[in-house]
Amino acid sequence: MPYVGFGGPIPSVNLTITAYPGTAHIRAGKRTPQRHPYSPFFPVLQYNPVQGQFFGGNFWDSRATGYLLRIPDAEQAQGPPVDTQEMGLPDTACIAFRLSQAEYRPLFEEVWGKGSLDINFQHETEQICTTPGGAAVFGGSTTPIALSAADRTRANVVYDRWAQSIDAFEQSAQVSAFSSKFDAFLAGKYKLTQEEMAGFKLFNGKGNCNSCHLDGRGTTLKSNQTDTSAAAMVNPLFTCFGSANEGVPLNPRDSFYYENKPDAYGFTANPYGFGYRDLGLGTFLRSGFGSGPNPNMNWKQYAPTVDGQMQVSSARDVAMTPAQCPSTEAPGPYFQKGFFHNGYIKSLKQLVHFYNTRDKYAYPVTSGHCPKGTTEKVDCWPMPEVRNNIDMTSGNLGLTDKEENEIVAFMQTLSDGFTRPYLNSDTFTGACMRGGSAATQGNELLIPTPPLPSCALAVCGVAPVPKPNIP
Ligand code: HEC
Repeated sequence: MPYVGFGGPIPSVNLTITAYPGTAHIRAGKRTPQRHPYSPFFPVLQYNPVQGQFFGGNFWDSRATGYLLRIPDAEQAQGPPVDTQEMGLPDTACIAFRLSQAEYRPLFEEVWGKGSLDINFQHETEQICTTPGGAAVFGGSTTPIALSAADRTRANVVYDRWAQSIDAFEQSAQVSAFSSKFDAFLAGKYKLTQEEMAGFKLFNGKGNCNSCHLDGRGTTLKSNQTDTSAAAMVNPLFTCFGSANEGVPLNPRDSFYYENKPDAYGFTANPYGFGYRDLGLGTFLRSGFGSGPNPNMNWKQYAPTVDGQMQVSSARDVAMTPAQCPSTEAPGPYFQKGFFHNGYIKSLKQLVHFYNTRDKYAYPVTSGHCPKGTTEKVDCWPMPEVRNNIDMTSGNLGLTDKEENEIVAFMQTLSDGFTRPYLNSDTFTGACMRGGSAATQGNELLIPTPPLPSCALAVCGVAPVPKPNIP
């Protein structure tokens, strides 16, 4: 929804199961929905052999590569409609079918051609498209709609065109607005407050956030240095398009772990239960469980070097909330969000504190089992879900409490809607939350992680296997 920068719009879901219920409400995905403003600017996924790193793509695991359409954001749009746990259409041709019946069909034909939706659909099509993908009746088929070869090709073309139209919308000023305080500051039309400016300096100085969330300026690594470089870019995207493993702990609240039995349609989202591990980009390169097919076989060999890596999200709009709940931070009134790919982090204060103290307060425990006398997320961080390839740029930054708050204040300047209203951002009808402290926000809903079975073979046993092996 627009009021959260197109992230997860329901506070109770953000606080608990993390992933969003799909069209079949008993199903949900496995990660927090990634905000999509600025996603059209991510380049086609590429491997840089000198850096040994991947850049570009869309989705937390970069599986929308842009390989076919040459624009990852359009391929991202193609995912959710046919994702079994999201909109659940059982066949990509359902998109053309639905479009052919839509009120806005003439608009689609105006852009993509008069005959573009002239496809002969059998009359069972409606019934097929209302049955969620993965249902046992389809016997594993992802093309249950019978079409002639020519009509199948036409339906595929519609699926591509439609995705390109969505990409155009996401790139428009309605979504990727460049209308934040920080944009106004770069244009010389807003003066950052003392706290915001202090946060900005920490962001590209002592906090070193700028080495991944590029702000268009030079990075000053030492606390006694001041960045005197001119802005190299006046529309910075606050991402390097790369990926990293920040060592986020496993979140036992994630609904995915519990979807281990067949639902009413005979579909099991995650047969491995708590044997599932989210290897992110690594699983994608292996064309593995819960990801997409990797289109480039040369990339597969690099999987062990990227296990656990997730995409560096743009920091833009991370703090965006509905106007009536002006903050993401307790005591509020605040709007509850979930941060990082699995929603483990519940406030921006916690997010910065994690970067700041992950290694200082590291304990060899899982979430819900911090030792007596410590407080999870305050002076105890459970071990990473995936311990391979942990990024060491941050983890022990030596930021004070005040400095953490300043970085939060800076991130709040990145919300669109300052220079002009953000379109349709006034539609939240729920209640704001109040009370507590940002440092422990959501801790009342922590649950003990059950004893973890070892990583399922379908995840960790696929060649080339993770090195070292993942317990
Ligand atoms: C080495 C690269 C790197 C550095 C340095 C870094 N980040 Fe990140 N950032 C990431 C990655 C990777 C993710 C996604 C991680 C995940 O979800 O597991 C991320 C995610 C985020 C998000 C988005 C969270 C969301 O849910 O959308 C914010 C905000 C953020 N980082 C802020 C910061 C701040 C503030 C700092 C400095 C204190 C920082 N980052 C330093 C790589 C980095």
